[in-house]
Amino acid sequence: MTRAPLEIILRNGARVSIVRALAADAVEVLAFALCLSPDSRHNRFFAQIGNEALAAEMARELTDPGNISLVARDAWAKHIVGHALGARTESGAEIAFAVADDVQHLGLGTHLLQALLDELRDLGVRHFEAITLPLNTTMRKVFAVAGFTMLSEPYDVRADLDDDSVSKEKAPP
Ligand SMILES: CC(C)(COP(=O)(O)OP(=O)(O)OC[C@H]1O[C@@H](n2cnc3c(N)ncnc32)[C@H](O)[C@@H]1OP(=O)(O)O)[C@@H](O)C(=O)NCCC(=O)NCCS
Repeated sequence: MTRAPLEIILRNGARVSIVRALAADAVEVLAFALCLSPDSRHNRFFAQIGNEALAAEMARELTDPGNISLVARDAWAKHIVGHALGARTESGAEIAFAVADDVQHLGLGTHLLQALLDELRDLGVRHFEAITLPLNTTMRKVFAVAGFTMLSEPYDVRADLDDDSVSKEKAPP
């Protein structure tokens, strides 16, 4: 069972709802990803990825039956402004995030992290991993503020979801 939409207010006062992505959202999620800046694409996909490769990668992520996606939608304009991916692995899930460039640093990434971890917990996932580039200070801060410790390669963050270090109280107001 999926959770009801999570309604949040960003630091600039904008209202955003976070909900599980449906198959019908795929075109919109792709359009959102294609609008990411080169820096954001690099931090999300670990390469200077062009439109064609990005479209192929997002299509793969969105259609893999083992994956779950959350979308964050601007409550006023209804555009997708954020996406969270939980890709099932043998031991749990690998997670990744993207927030629209003009909405970054307003708290959405932190809320997407908490919402995705809640969804994964509901699915019985007990372990997650995430790769974060060394210079991606924003994502590294999001994990740190949420109580996770950065590790060395291959996965920068690796944690159990029933671990006490996973704190829901640390999402921004
Ligand atoms: C990384 C990313 C997903 C983070 O999303 P975001 O919405 O910008 O993140 P948030 O606003 O929740 O958190 C970022 C900032 O808020 C701070 N913050 C978060 N929670 C906080 C809290 N409770 N108290 C104080 N500060 C907090 C973080 O320390 C960070 O500080 P900064 O603004 O100085 O960078 C987003 O920047 C992005 O899409 N980047 C490009 C793609 C990417 O890097 N993906 C990650 C690959 S896994």
